[in-house]
Amino acid sequence: MAEAAKLELEGKVYEIPVIVGTEQEKGLDISRLKATTDYITVDPGYANTGSCLSAITYIDGEKGILRYRGYDIAELCEKSTFMEVCYLLIYGELPTPEQYTKFKDKVLRHSLIHEDMKSFFTSYPGHAHPMAILSAMVCSLSVYHPELLAPDPSPEEMDETITRLLSKVRVLAAFAYKRSVGEAFVYTRPKLDYLSNFLHMMFTTPMEQYETDEVIRKALDVLFILHADHEQNCSTSTVRMVGSSKANLFASISAGICALWGPLHGGANQAVIEMLEAIAADGGNYKKYIDKAKDKNDPFKLMGFGHRIYKNYDPRARIIKKYCDDVLGKLGIHDPILEIAKGLEEVALTDPYFIERKLYPNVDFYSGILYRAMNIPTNMFTVMFALGRLPGWIAHWKEMIEEPGMRIARPRQIYTGAPLRKFIPFNQRGTYAEP
Ligand code: SDX
Repeated sequence: MAEAAKLELEGKVYEIPVIVGTEQEKGLDISRLKATTDYITVDPGYANTGSCLSAITYIDGEKGILRYRGYDIAELCEKSTFMEVCYLLIYGELPTPEQYTKFKDKVLRHSLIHEDMKSFFTSYPGHAHPMAILSAMVCSLSVYHPELLAPDPSPEEMDETITRLLSKVRVLAAFAYKRSVGEAFVYTRPKLDYLSNFLHMMFTTPMEQYETDEVIRKALDVLFILHADHEQNCSTSTVRMVGSSKANLFASISAGICALWGPLHGGANQAVIEMLEAIAADGGNYKKYIDKAKDKNDPFKLMGFGHRIYKNYDPRARIIKKYCDDVLGKLGIHDPILEIAKGLEEVALTDPYFIERKLYPNVDFYSGILYRAMNIPTNMFTVMFALGRLPGWIAHWKEMIEEPGMRIARPRQIYTGAPLRKFIPFNQRGTYAEP
């Protein structure tokens, strides 16, 4: 612990303990503030407020650093796999060969969903957004596993739920896609690895077996590793919030999927491509969209730009941008949208508005280019983000549930409404100006 801070309120001086993290991040421990001073803090959007101590992910927004359990993201992309990173995030260490084999086999074993669930998919209209389907289906998984809904799951029950979710959410995503294109559902094959099975379920048809393209599979592996966790972002904080009531993991993840759907968060990857396509249709007129983004009277934001934490280039965007060049080159794809993205980035990064506000491309700016190269439709992009982020959500839920003395999350507020007033009988209310 560092030297306590001092807070002077109404002539009294209070000592506020200071918490110091592994990388010397400092925080004021205000857990006793209300009890000792009767004051609370107010921080809309929580830009200055830590909700927890966590050992999972470290981000340095100024230096553009991202590490999972101490391992740098670039090294994990180069030397690890998404399945191994799932284990690392959730259990805290890189798995031994024996642990990894056991983990992968359990995930493979849970690759089927209850046959009853197939009718759920066909009950949705074809135009249903797959994020709506995914969040509903993940919560519905709880119906088929009542034995895993205990508010205080044993380690074995937790492991069972974790491997079931990791395996089945991939199936739910692929089935949602198949529903949207009116094709038959495709089951996993025992011989395929985690991501090859996902691509198989997405693109195999009764007429043609999808053969995994290693360039695509590796690019997807890297994309999922890059999306796997990002500390207390909106959707992860949602998973923690819901889980803090001791709601089960299925319900907590379903809530996280809903939070991720928003265009300010995971929904941005879909919005980026829609924006780039609009710019392309507008003759590549970047300046018009840069001016719109700068116009305070225009709600338009440059999608895929800016970040609450990164005030430097998002290290994930840098890696994805490089993969775009590599993968499209290897696949012989020329995607004009990539050129539009690069041109837009170049203009934005030389514009004082973006420089002053430290607005750089974030993880969503280039990811859609790779998903397009994989023939993933735009409305599935945020589903892809959810599949990547699933291990991070699970890791944070588990870390919170296992924390001694875990309490339900319940923020405070400052009330600014009407003071006490008497009830007005119906016939004495006169006429109100419309509220
Ligand atoms: C993700 O939190 C995470 O970790 C999220 C994530 C993860 O892995 O989980 O990294 C994934 O959600 C990435 C972000 C994807 N969203 C977008 O790309 C949408 C576009 N970006 C913005 O909406 C915005 O940058 C946010 C939401 C990402 C961050 O918002 P903040 O931190 O609340 O910043 P802000 O809105 O207060 O912006 C500060 C200033 C404002 O201008 P001023 O009022 O100071 O004049 O910068 C401006 C904003 O208007 N600004 C932008 C902008 N982003 C911020 N102006 C134009 N275009 C933008 N994209």
